[in-house]
Amino acid sequence: MFTSFIAGTGHYAPERIITNDYLSELMDTNDAWIAERTGIKERRWFTPGVDTVANMAAKASRMALDNAKTEVSEVDCIVFATITPDYYFPGSGVLLQRELGLGSVPALDIRNQCTGFVYALSVADQFIKTGVYKNILVIGAEIQSSALDISTEGRGMAVIFGDGAGAVLLKRSENPDKGIIDSKLYSDGNFAEELILKDPGSSRPKRKLEELALDLADTRPYMNGNQVFKHAVQRFPEVTLEILEKNGFTKNDLDLLVPHQANLRITNYIKSQLELSDQQVVSNIERYGNTTAASIPIALSEAWQEGRIKEGMLVCLTAFGSGFTWGANLLRW
Ligand code: UT7
Repeated sequence: MFTSFIAGTGHYAPERIITNDYLSELMDTNDAWIAERTGIKERRWFTPGVDTVANMAAKASRMALDNAKTEVSEVDCIVFATITPDYYFPGSGVLLQRELGLGSVPALDIRNQCTGFVYALSVADQFIKTGVYKNILVIGAEIQSSALDISTEGRGMAVIFGDGAGAVLLKRSENPDKGIIDSKLYSDGNFAEELILKDPGSSRPKRKLEELALDLADTRPYMNGNQVFKHAVQRFPEVTLEILEKNGFTKNDLDLLVPHQANLRITNYIKSQLELSDQQVVSNIERYGNTTAASIPIALSEAWQEGRIKEGMLVCLTAFGSGFTWGANLLRW
């Protein structure tokens, strides 16, 4: 009977720091509004010609492999969560495979938005538990900034999203007391249009940009912030409590929660619902904003670096996002 555990974590954030004050020069916003409504003070935006989703993922992966004391050549599968691949196709998984100089290992791309990493980890867990692979790189990496409307019209989204990459090496073991215990995954497509990037959508009559007689606004991401917020504060605590209870635990057993970094007010709400302390909830949104699929593995990697994750801890990763999709992974570190 195989189990899977996170043997190493890594992350990479582009060097360019975008402060709230800088955004205030581009649009009608201000540091006080952004900090109070979202908790964000700064975020990283990529440098064109330097950062790509695949090369940021490679940097995060190398760090995860170093921490796992595992050679690149031992990786036998890639599961890559992103909604901002470098190309429309192929996905960034194969670019990472090339970038790392890996043999012809499978590269699976996952697109489940802010829940992408939670979905990816559960898929990798199944591959390991069924004995198919031994060392899977699980990635979340995004470049959101190049799609943002950095005018006052787009400020609802532009102040929130950031770029970055996080990775874990998921390893096979036969120790039943350590590793991923369970995953819960959900979706509700009734809300697909509440957080969306429509174009270039394949069901349009023409997809060549110059032929698309469409509203250019559809080429930019759209979010109905209030609606997303309302569902997020319900789903985050719900799925966290569900996965704990299903596996015979209560909220008092949880040592560390690593939520998707959507909004500090959402994180604080989950914290109060689950009666957790600051020390039990990882939050780095202040420095990175919302990096979609990258946010959980970046937060996990930083928490590990800071010595906040100790052997034997019960850890939960929880996410909610576009789709709507939401879910959680429960693991014994
Ligand atoms: O990661 C996937 C999941 N995503 C999320 O979970 C995000 C969920 N949503 C949110 O985090 C919040 O809804 C936002 C941070 C996006 C917005 O916060 P809010 O408290 O819901 O603000 P609001 O949209 O209701 O806007 C309040 C006011 C409005 O002005 P009026 O109508 O009250 O005069 C907005 O026009 O704030 C204004 N506003 C801004 N002002 C300065 C909206 N965006 C900005 C801005 N700077 N960037």
